Amino acid sequence: MVGLIKCLAVAAFCLAAPAIAHPGEHHDPQAVKREVRAREAMAFHAKRSLSGCANSLHARELKDRNVARRAHTLQQLRKKRNISSRPAKYRRDLAALERWEVVDHNHTLAMNDGSEVLNSENEVFGAYTSCILTPTITDGPYYVWGEVVRQNVKEELYSDGVDVHLEVQYIDINTCRPVPGALVDIWNANATGVYSGVSVSGNYAADGWDSTYLRGVQQTDREGVVNFDTIFPGHYDGRATHTHLLTHLNATLLPNKTLEVGTGSVAHIGQLFWNEVLRTAVEDTYPYTTNTKPVTSNAEDMWSVQQADSAYDPFPEFAYLGDNLDDGLFAWIQIGINATLDFTDSSNYGIAAYYEADGGHENSAMGGAPIGTGSMPAMPSSTSA
Ligand SMILES: *[C@@H]1O[C@H](CO)[C@@H](O)[C@H](O)[C@H]1NC(C)=O
Ligand SMILES: *[C@@H]1O[C@H](CO)[C@@H](O)[C@H](O)[C@H]1NC(C)=O
Ligand SMILES: *[C@@H]1O[C@H](CO)[C@@H](O)[C@H](O)[C@H]1NC(C)=O
Ligand SMILES: *[C@@H]1O[C@H](CO)[C@@H](O)[C@H](O)[C@H]1NC(C)=O
Ligand SMILES: *[C@@H]1O[C@H](CO)[C@@H](O)[C@H](O)[C@H]1NC(C)=O
Ligand SMILES: *[C@@H]1O[C@H](CO)[C@@H](O)[C@H](O)[C@H]1NC(C)=O
Repeated sequence: MVGLIKCLAVAAFCLAAPAIAHPGEHHDPQAVKREVRAREAMAFHAKRSLSGCANSLHARELKDRNVARRAHTLQQLRKKRNISSRPAKYRRDLAALERWEVVDHNHTLAMNDGSEVLNSENEVFGAYTSCILTPTITDGPYYVWGEVVRQNVKEELYSDGVDVHLEVQYIDINTCRPVPGALVDIWNANATGVYSGVSVSGNYAADGWDSTYLRGVQQTDREGVVNFDTIFPGHYDGRATHTHLLTHLNATLLPNKTLEVGTGSVAHIGQLFWNEVLRTAVEDTYPYTTNTKPVTSNAEDMWSVQQADSAYDPFPEFAYLGDNLDDGLFAWIQIGINATLDFTDSSNYGIAAYYEADGGHENSAMGGAPIGTGSMPAMPSSTSA
């Protein structure tokens, strides 16, 4: 579509088909089908709302600011890394392509001797900006409440991989305006496909429940924007490569920079998927090459994507910072949310563990049962490993 905001929905893509769901995820095929239908209807509705937003004056102004901000971010990221090499030209043949998987999200910029972004800025950072609708996607079995506010979620250990600077912008589809003050959790598996903070069959984190690598929280600014420094996720059995995002509204931030348990709403639960060509290129580099787990492609994971056609695009836009992946990536995406919704009681929401001053604790209320079977579980009373 040609609007200022390209609309897409990640939500419809996210349930693993029952046959390939990984340990900890339980899905009844009929329920999955019902849910996918409901999500598609919702995404369609929300897409219409956002299309309506696109021509308003403040949407145009927002787009101009987005273009300037993203170009600036890219330049700063290059400067910080001392990258002066010329990234090769980005390709652009979007209009001709039908399916999102084959759409080129690669906006690796032509640079003028590394110093000046060519006048393609507007196209690169503006026109193809994406938005993701409908938040009813599972948060999977590995969400940990209580992670600390930090932009850089990479740690000294277990975080090697291709650097990704991810910018996410949240827009409220009711008002067409950015959502400020939201607290956004990010988490993804490391290069060899293991999450921190959860130590169960299928995901034994080194350092067990106490580990926090590649997890953190950021608060949206006035433009509804959060930035994270993380790595490109590795794959694990049964799921396509993805990055989790979960958005809290009106949650209380404690002095120790964590969210107070039981406060606020869960307005969006989402997963970003990564284009196969990019995933393959990343996984050809070390240490991704040491990952022995079988790969699940986007198509295998998200059969619903294939049916979702032009309404949906679950892939962030990206640009190489330099001339190869070692220099890292800048990725960006815009997410449309309905800020009045609260998924706290949804079956798609579940808390695997709580991270506290004395470390991580398994949420005993989950106890191997299907995730998110009711309201926010109480704080666990004791440790378990
Ligand atoms: C970047 O390059 C400059 C000049 O070549 C050098 O002085 C500086 O130490 C470099 N910084 C980093 C982070 O490599
Ligand atoms: C990923 O995490 C696992 C367990 O936490 C660890 O054994 C592995 O070395 C990590 N991979 C990398 C590339 O750091
Ligand atoms: C947001 O959700 C509320 C509550 O379900 C609904 O009334 C409203 O129409 C939704 N907004 C949009 C733009 O879909
Ligand atoms: C919750 O957050 C939203 C979006 O930031 C805001 O519009 C709303 O007024 C807040 N609600 C309450 C009860 O504070
Ligand atoms: C992205 O574009 C750059 C420049 O054209 C190219 O070198 C790189 O291989 C592309 N990567 C992917 C994953 O498409
Ligand atoms: C942060 O403070 C809260 C409230 O005192 C506490 O329950 C929690 O364990 C603390 N978290 C961390 C990581 O220190």
